[in-house]
Amino acid sequence: MGVTRSFFIALSKNQALNSGAKRWGLKLGAGKVVAGTDIKSMMQSVKELNANGISATIDNLGEFVQTKEEATQAKEAILKTLEAIQVHGVNAHMSIKLTQIGLDVDPDFCLENIQEIVSAAANYDIFINLDMEDYDHLQQTLDILNVLLKEYDNVGTVIQAYLYRAEKDLENLKNVRLRLVKGAYKESPEVSLQEKKEIDENYLKLIKLHLQAPGYTSIATHDHHIIEQVKAFVKEENIPLHSFEFQMLYGFRTEMQKDLAKEGFAFTTYVPFGQDWYAYYMRRLAERPQNINLALKSLVSK
Ligand code: FDA
Repeated sequence: MGVTRSFFIALSKNQALNSGAKRWGLKLGAGKVVAGTDIKSMMQSVKELNANGISATIDNLGEFVQTKEEATQAKEAILKTLEAIQVHGVNAHMSIKLTQIGLDVDPDFCLENIQEIVSAAANYDIFINLDMEDYDHLQQTLDILNVLLKEYDNVGTVIQAYLYRAEKDLENLKNVRLRLVKGAYKESPEVSLQEKKEIDENYLKLIKLHLQAPGYTSIATHDHHIIEQVKAFVKEENIPLHSFEFQMLYGFRTEMQKDLAKEGFAFTTYVPFGQDWYAYYMRRLAERPQNINLALKSLVSK
């Protein structure tokens, strides 16, 4: 892992900066990749995406919550967002990080919170994705998912291709709707591949496996090499278009997002919004140091 990547991942975990940033409003160029701080501005962005044939997965930003009060507030905000999706009639579902609704405070309390959310979403016929966080939270996230799957079918999660255990986890979740990603956190060589080439190879392998399994596949990447290889594979194997989609983050490769939707592929954009933008934005800078230009330009133009 390069020094720059480690540096931004360390910044993303800094508690003081995370809480300070909530008071700043969107700064450092984050407005390019975060769809505002309230439901109104986020809905505007979602409607624009829908007009281009693109669906949205909405992330009411927040993670690493340390108290029950904060977790309850986050749950209430998520329930409000679900209601807004219904009221506005937009084509959208939600992505949720379990640490935002109390995983670090008390896993049983977190389970109650996510059950309430998934149940409300089921009533609206809205899908809920459990985002995958760092390795320390992986098993707990899968355990909670498995409890939810006994009762609900509008829930799925993320498999990170950099992890050695990814293929096994994928195998156990054959029937489940999964988002496949390369992985965004800094993980140790004991648990994860470290070389980009190996991660890319494993990523493509997992995509091919899940495309041939019953569960829906969300291929979440900005990597055009991977996307081209997926296109070739689905054509060769006659994989139906309704069994998978591509996903990218809001503000990234916007033209390519529209082009893929125009080509007839199902496409979903990950739309983060809210005041808790800081850790999310630092991880994006870690992934793609070119994005630092966004941050620097916004500083000099102030
Ligand atoms: P990667 O960063 O490896 O880039 C590969 C190549 O693609 C680059 O060399 C460049 O050529 C090209 N490229 C990439 N970005 C570009 C750009 N903006 N402009 C031009 N060219 C570009 N992670 C996680 O751990 N848990 C999660 O729940 C999620 N969820 C999630 C949802 C969605 C919708 C996405 C898109 C991603 C995630 N991730 C995630 C993040 C994921 O794990 C990964 O860190 C990032 O997507 C970066 O990897 P990529 O596959 O996009 O390409």
